[in-house]
Amino acid sequence: MVSKKIEDALNDQLNKEMFSSYLYLSMAAYFDNINLGGMSKWMKMQSEEEYLHAMKFYDFILRLGGKVKLAAMEAPQTKWKAPKDVFEDSLKHEQFISKSIHKLMDLAIEESHHPTKSFLQWFVDEQVEEEDNVQQIVENFNLIADDKSGLFMLDRELGARTAEVEQN
Ligand code: FEO
Repeated sequence: MVSKKIEDALNDQLNKEMFSSYLYLSMAAYFDNINLGGMSKWMKMQSEEEYLHAMKFYDFILRLGGKVKLAAMEAPQTKWKAPKDVFEDSLKHEQFISKSIHKLMDLAIEESHHPTKSFLQWFVDEQVEEEDNVQQIVENFNLIADDKSGLFMLDRELGARTAEVEQN
């Protein structure tokens, strides 16, 4: 059993996770267009992870006996001034998603819905990791500043890091 309020909030989060997947795919396309294949690979991996997050909500809503309602999604941003701006936007987006997960957790606590609280705990922890990962990349960009060889190295590193994540 689940209240309509929690069911709607879970569907809303499902939609946000699907949008995250779409946004990261758009970021991957931006990097492909400027020949930064490592960063594109990293973003594609992020996009796949977000799809899996959305599917966790999908499965959970059904397990509660609720209805999955897919909503319209806005078109994601397609242009950025520089590679660093993409990761800064990614960090802002993850901070927005963290807030949304926390609000959802607040609702589950308010309604004493223990299954939703338990389900959301994984996302609370995951968001700490996601924000930290992107924050580190933004800091790497700060270190290399306008150094083209630094950008090349970072692109290679992010391409390799994607492969590591895939093994987990
Ligand atoms: Fe599923 Fe990166 O939030």
